[in-house]
Formats: sequence, structure tokens, C-alpha cells
Amino acid sequence: MEQSQVTIAPARGKLGVLLPGLGAVSTTLIAGIELIKKGLGRPIGSLTQYGTIRLGKRTENNSPLIKDFVPLAGLDELVFGCWDLFADNAYDAAMHAGVIEPSRLEAVRTELQELRPWKAVFDQNYVRRLSGPHVKTGKNKYDLAMQLMEDIETFSGRHGTTRMVMLWCGSTEVFMELDEVHKTLRNFEDGLKNDHPAITPSMIYAYASLMSGVPFGNGAPNLTVDIPALLELADDRRVPVCGKDFKTGQTLMKTILAPALKARQLGLHGWFSSNILGNRDGDVLHDPSSFRTKEYSKLSVLEYILQPELNEELYGDYEHQVHIHYYKPRGDNKEGWDNVDIFGWLDYPMQIKINFLCRDSILAAPLMLDLVLLMDLAQRSQLSGIQEWLSFYFKSPMCASFLYPEHDLFIQLTKLKNTLRYLRGEDQITHLGIEYYQS
Ligand SMILES: NC(=O)c1ccc[n+]([C@@H]2O[C@H](COP(=O)([O-])OP(=O)(O)OC[C@H]3O[C@@H](n4cnc5c(N)ncnc54)[C@H](O)[C@@H]3O)[C@@H](O)[C@H]2O)c1
Repeated sequence: MEQSQVTIAPARGKLGVLLPGLGAVSTTLIAGIELIKKGLGRPIGSLTQYGTIRLGKRTENNSPLIKDFVPLAGLDELVFGCWDLFADNAYDAAMHAGVIEPSRLEAVRTELQELRPWKAVFDQNYVRRLSGPHVKTGKNKYDLAMQLMEDIETFSGRHGTTRMVMLWCGSTEVFMELDEVHKTLRNFEDGLKNDHPAITPSMIYAYASLMSGVPFGNGAPNLTVDIPALLELADDRRVPVCGKDFKTGQTLMKTILAPALKARQLGLHGWFSSNILGNRDGDVLHDPSSFRTKEYSKLSVLEYILQPELNEELYGDYEHQVHIHYYKPRGDNKEGWDNVDIFGWLDYPMQIKINFLCRDSILAAPLMLDLVLLMDLAQRSQLSGIQEWLSFYFKSPMCASFLYPEHDLFIQLTKLKNTLRYLRGEDQITHLGIEYYQS
């Protein structure tokens, strides 16, 4: 057995979970955890709660639960803090989101009502279809970052947390390209003081988080922490980061199906994806500049999986379209349609249709729980910078600038589990099975 050099600090004490954005996904996570703690629900969809991990050879029959294999925080140890530009407490916000029905929320009403968001760092220039009253004011963006750091410190003191993590669950910001101000920490800090327009609110949260030594994950497609300046800060402070954009509905299906097409060497003429959804996220994404950020995140997936540059004949000339339509009556219950035009032996065309009637936030909440627990594990294991092994959870996984992102769900899962094995000094599983043939 390989001996790991990694010492994992125990998961002792309270883990603070800081959420910028108290909307549909955040309230579904928080209410869900409270319901689960009372035995009124199950954490289905969560790898950390249900997943197992094989250790050693297949003949050894040793597959413990992941949560028994690595030390993770228990659900009872989680305490939540959040920011939003609406002052609604978590109960009212959950009612507004309409994901969990009122009769079920009643059981955790008191816990949710106690959770009130801090004022947000928000600017409508970056999310055009939103405006709200519960917003911080300050001398400049640097001052706003300092106010966020104060919130974090006060929260930690009040709840006696031993560790914290921050997960961006705010709205998708307008499309932003890498700017000079993002390139070094020095430029970035000058930019904060000079109110540089290319520094978005989500970047200010990420800066405050890293400065406070708190791991940061990004559930939306915004650049946020995926800029050299903040990666430099994450390295300096030895803090883990990950992102971007939770991989929940349609893209999850795409990263399951596309590897299968490629594995069987079936060609692709086109992939047409369309969604209808009626929640606040859908409304925000109706703005073309926020949609562009999302579109960019959703479109890149196929190219990386199919690698047209290596297989021109099968994947060199396909059309890929992604559309999102805001349709209010549908609420959080998104419907995704995919029409996939493929071709096989002797070029005969075939079609695959997917109609996924999903629930956006119900799919996102277990990912968020896993990310909270695994980011905390990463920090207790002294891992820092980009946590590529958490790509499993993201549509647009962050990776080092000299690498390409890995989108194939099954490779991502292998990376995740092999990282856990590495942390505990277990052999990596390669599925080689060579000893069987030799015997
Ligand atoms: N399955 C999913 O639901 C899913 C999947 C991938 C990504 N996401 C992303 O997660 C994010 C949250 O999704 P949601 O469905 O909860 O959306 P939502 O609109 O219900 O909630 C977002 C909340 O963030 C708040 N907000 C916006 N800017 C803020 C700021 N600067 N500071 C503090 N609060 C701010 C809004 O007021 C709102 O309450 C979105 O960016 C969405 O694109 C969601």
C-alpha cells in the first residue's frame, strides 16, 4: 500500500458555510439539511452521504462509504451565513423560491427564520435584471471587501466555528473577459481601491474569502475566482478554490452521453439543446449578457470531450446550439430538451432525444453539500489552489492554465476517488487487473 504524506486534521467543531446569494439553490440546501437532521428527508444525490469507494483488489471486497473513509464534517456541525440584496430571512426566501412545498418547510420554519442575510455587495451593472434594497455602501470596492471580511469574522466569533467555506450561489453576472486588472494581485488590489469596472461583486466576495483564509467555490459561470490575481492570493494564503457552474441538469446529461458516443466512435452532426425554466435564475439569464456567460460555460463541454482536432472525420463539423428560455409557469422545474444527430456505420444517420424534466435546485443541493464537505476536507489536508479533483461538480471546471479542463463525468469521478485514496495512502485504482491474467 502507498503511504500518503498527507496528514488530515480532524473535522472537529463547527463548520461555517458562507453563501453569497440566498435564492433557490441556497435555501434548498439549508432547508434540506435542517429537514435531514430531523429525519424528515434524505440527502439523495450526495456522493459524500451515499457514495462508496473501492479499496484494494476486487477480490478483497472492501468498499467503505466515502464518509467513513475520509473524515468529513457531520451535518449537525454545519452553520450557515449568507448575503443577499433582499432582506428576506431564509424561510421567506425559500417560500419565494417555491422549490420545497410550504407544508414541508413548516417543520423547519424556526431554524430558517433565524437566518437573515447580511447586506450584499451588489451592483446592477453586473446583473441587469435584478435590483434590491439590502446592499452595502462603501468608499470603494476595497472598503466593501473589508466589510465582507468583518461579516465573516463576526459570524465565526458568534458561532464559534473552527473552519469555514464559501460557495458563490449568487446570480450569474454579465460576461467578462480577462482584463489587465485580473492578472496580478497587485493590479487587483489597486483596482479594488480605484473601483475598476472589471472587478465584479463576486470577485470581491472571493477576495474577502481568500483573505480570511476561507476556501472558495463558485457555483455560477462567472470568472470570479478563476483569474490569475485571485489564484495568486489562494496560493499565497494556501487556500483551496474550485468552480465554475454547478453541473446539474442538461450539461450533466451531455457529459454522460458524449463520452459514450466517443467511446463507440459514433459521429456527430449536431446537438441542439433547449431549456425552459421560470425561476429567478431563469429571469436573470434572460438578459443576453448574463446568458452569454452561461452559454460559454455550456458550449465548451462537447469540444473538450469529443476532441475534434484528434478525430476530424467524426467530430470535425458538428453544430452545437444551447438556448435558455424564461417561462414563468415552469418555476424551478426546468425542462431540458436535447436533439442529438449522430451517424454510424456507412454514415447512416440516427437521432437521440432527451427530455429531462428536472428540478434545478433539487439537483444542485446535494452537489453543494458535497462541495462544502470536500472543500473543508481539502483545507484540512493542506491542499491549496485549484482543486481539479472537484471538477466532477462543475460545468466549466477550473484547471491550471497549461491544461485543458476534463469534462467526462466518469474520468472526473475517477479523479475524485483517486484523490481520496491518495489522501488516505491507499493504492490508486487503475482497473488494469493485470494480476488476474498473470495468475
Ligand atoms: N441547478 C441550478 O440551480 C444551478 C446550476 C448551475 C448554476 N447555478 C447557478 O447558481 C446561482 C444561483 O442559482 P439560483 O437558482 O439559486 O438563483 P436565484 O436567482 O434563485 O438566487 C440567486 C440569489 O442571489 C442573489 N444575489 C445576486 N447577486 C448577489 C450579490 N452580489 N450578493 C449577494 N446576493 C446576490 C439574488 O438576489 C438571489 O436571491 C446562479 O448563478 C445559477 O446560474 C444554478
